[in-house]
Amino acid sequence: MTATEPTLRPAELLLLEEIACALAREAGDLIVTERPEQLGVAATKSAQTDIVTVMDRRSEELLRSRLESARPGDGLLGEEGASRPSQTGITWVVDPIDGTVNYLYDLPAYAVSVAACVGDVHTPGQWRTVAGAVMNPVTDELFHARSEGGAFLQHRGRSHRLHVTAQDDLALSLVATGFGYDVGKRRQQAAVVVDLIPQVRDIRRAGSAAIDLCSVAAGRLDGYYESGLNPWDLAAGWLVVTEAGGVVQGAGGAAPSAELVVAGGAAVTAALAPLVDR
Ligand code: IPD
Repeated sequence: MTATEPTLRPAELLLLEEIACALAREAGDLIVTERPEQLGVAATKSAQTDIVTVMDRRSEELLRSRLESARPGDGLLGEEGASRPSQTGITWVVDPIDGTVNYLYDLPAYAVSVAACVGDVHTPGQWRTVAGAVMNPVTDELFHARSEGGAFLQHRGRSHRLHVTAQDDLALSLVATGFGYDVGKRRQQAAVVVDLIPQVRDIRRAGSAAIDLCSVAAGRLDGYYESGLNPWDLAAGWLVVTEAGGVVQGAGGAAPSAELVVAGGAAVTAALAPLVDR
């Protein structure tokens, strides 16, 4: 980790986790209650299928303004362009809607992801998440964690501690993945899946990397891998998995990055990584 990493006491970590939870909940409520009747695509980004809706922008603006008031010295990195340098060593990495295509189609697998990170969030291997929350507002599930504090799911007023599965046989593992928006990249991702399907129990593609990671933490999946993720897709979910006893790694066992993210229990991650690291 970098020399600029701040020392965070347990009470500070708890405060960061509480802020992440409150903001993920508030933005989650916003995208459900204020969703326009006729929701359309407001803009496209890297490809015609890589979309932004008006609610991605409103959710990010809510997160930006709340964080500016509550944590004025902290940095910010948001999927829709929010950016502010950090004066404290803490940077908030936010995805205002992870699973925007699901959101557009009203498929109930999308989330707001809010993470407090330390280090240089623009450089893989130079940052880590210290507190984070992922809110699925449709299922009313709030996944959250802080460093060395465990991972939890709040649902219908109850809190459940999360644990990854103890699965150690890849052939019996339920594995999720995702696909990027670039057509060339998708061909490569499809080729990896073709080889993997005969070696696992089955494959799932939910459409939200943040939910996939939290599903690993909750034992609803044995493993997950994807290439092409951005920091906002993985920041909160990464910590939720590791605090649930799992492993999250990147290419060649390095830190997770856009090149590759593999997550699961230790045995599944070790078995899966060489098959998808190509
Ligand atoms: C996407 C989702 C999807 C994953 C893509 C991401 P977005 O995020 O997490 O599951 O496969 O790689 O870009 O665009 O909906 O925020």
